[in-house]
Parts: sequence; structure tokens; C-alpha cells
Amino acid sequence: MDLHLDGDTALVTASSAGLGLASAKALAREGANVTICGRDADRLAEAEAAFEGLDGDVLARQADITDPDDITDLVDTTVEAFGGLDHVVTSAGGPRSGPFLDMTERDFYEAYDLLVMSAVWTLQEASPHLADGGGTWTAVTSTSVQEAIDGLVLSNGVRRAVVGVAKTVAREWAPDVRANVVLPAAHETSRIEELVEQGLERGEYSTYEEGLEDWADGIPMGRIGDPDEFGDVVAFLASDRASFVTGASVPVDGGRLRS
Ligand SMILES: NC(=O)c1ccc[n+]([C@@H]2O[C@H](COP(=O)([O-])OP(=O)(O)OC[C@H]3O[C@@H](n4cnc5c(N)ncnc54)[C@H](OP(=O)(O)O)[C@@H]3O)[C@@H](O)[C@H]2O)c1
Repeated sequence: MDLHLDGDTALVTASSAGLGLASAKALAREGANVTICGRDADRLAEAEAAFEGLDGDVLARQADITDPDDITDLVDTTVEAFGGLDHVVTSAGGPRSGPFLDMTERDFYEAYDLLVMSAVWTLQEASPHLADGGGTWTAVTSTSVQEAIDGLVLSNGVRRAVVGVAKTVAREWAPDVRANVVLPAAHETSRIEELVEQGLERGEYSTYEEGLEDWADGIPMGRIGDPDEFGDVVAFLASDRASFVTGASVPVDGGRLRS
């Protein structure tokens, strides 16, 4: 299926690895020019190299998405480099795992900035460009917005705000801009490695493999996802092939969600 993204421009936040990178690569494979970002310069350079041979161009910017000034710079440099901005994909790092009473007030506020405000700031900065028509916002969240995940109170408690914002924007900015939320279950990225390692430290698993199996448990497809399987859905939602899809929460979870 040709997604007709040739010549479009996309900004994908938190995209030097994992689901953000997979989404950016899927958009570039379909011809979109893409801005990627992350905090670590080496990781970002490695990610930039992964775009070689893809149809779209890539602009790699070092940025911290919890800093609104960095987000302003990301939008400005994207528009300057590619002449506009059609699609925004907001991903982020993952919040700390652990039970409710282990979390401080600061943990909650930091998770809010990382998971919610980073998307809000990005969308506010991007809005004049998206409103030209055919604009899209796709927010990477988690299946935790529909069903709580054990040991992830920050994700369970904070991320739902993004769904509320996306639902609102989908109504307020229609028909010029479509806004959707994508709900990944476990995919093979450094985030899952980190969560398994934190579970190992808390004594929840005796081996790394047991931790990975635990994350695949309850997924009818019998495995965790490949990030490219996620990126393809993000590229589809950005494309005109999804022109009647807005305000939706789309699971990419191998069938894990029951609701
Ligand atoms: N993978 C999964 O199975 C899964 C499932 C459900 C939900 N999620 C959620 O989906 C999102 C993406 O997950 P992932 O698996 O792709 O994570 P990941 O593999 O850990 O990658 C996170 C990316 O975000 C960047 N990043 C983190 N904090 C940043 C910041 N403050 N500013 C700019 N860039 C930042 C990282 O680069 P730097 O560290 O260099 O900045 C990296 O490029 C996370 O919110 C995660 O919790 C993931």
C-alpha cells in the first residue's frame, strides 16, 4: 500500500531509539522528511545513520523534550530545513516503574512533564503549521491508558491525560488536523530491557529471560512486538489512507487488551 507521504514533513519526538525511531523510519520509508531527537548525542548519531537509503531525508537534533525551549527549537529547525510541518508523532521516554508508595510527589510531576507536557508543548508549537490542512498528531502512549499495568503507577496514572487532549484536539481541529493515540504493549526496545532489569532488582524475576516471558504473558500472539510493526501503524495513521480515522485510540498489542 502506498501511503503517499512523499514530500511531507514529520517531527517525531524521543526518537533516537525504540518506538519513536521505528515510527520515524516508517515515515521516511514512505517518503516523508523526518526530524528525530534525543538527549544522548552518540545514540542520536547512530539513529541518524539508520536512515541511509530510505526515501525521506532526516534531520537529527539533540533535545530534551521536558524543556519547552528545546521543543520550540525542534519545530523551528524542522520548518526551516524542510519548509513546513505536516505530521507530529509524540513519543517519550518511559517513567520509573514500581509500586505507588515508592513514588514521590516529584516522580509524579516529572512523569507529567515527560509524558503529557512534552506532547502538549510540541502540539502547541506545531499547531500553526499543522492547521494548513492534512496535518496529523499521533501520540504514542501505552495500553496502560485502557488497562492498568502492575508496577507502573506513573504510566497508569498520568498517561490518560494525553488521550483526553487528543480526543479534544480531534474535535476542535477537525477537519484540518487528525489526532490519534497509539497504545503499544510490550515491544522489543531498550524500555522493556530497562523494565525487566528494574523487576530483577526488586526480585520479581530470577532471570532476564523470565522477565521477558512475563511481558509476553497474556499476549495472544504469544510474543512481544517488533518496533517496526508499531512504526508501520504510526505511518498509516499519518497518511491519507487513514483520512477518516481521528480521535481514535489504536492498540498495537498483539491482542493483549481485553476491553
Ligand atoms: N517498548 C514498549 O514495550 C512500550 C510499551 C508501552 C509503552 N511504551 C512507551 O512508549 C514510549 C517509547 O518507548 P520506547 O520503548 O521507544 O523507549 P526507549 O527504547 O527507551 O526509547 C526512548 C527514546 O526516547 C528518548 N528520550 C527519553 N527521554 C527523553 C527526553 N527527555 N528528551 C528527548 N528524548 C528522550 C531516548 O533517547 P535519550 O535517552 O538519549 O534521550 C530514546 O531515543 C515510552 O513512553 C514508553 O514508556 C513502550
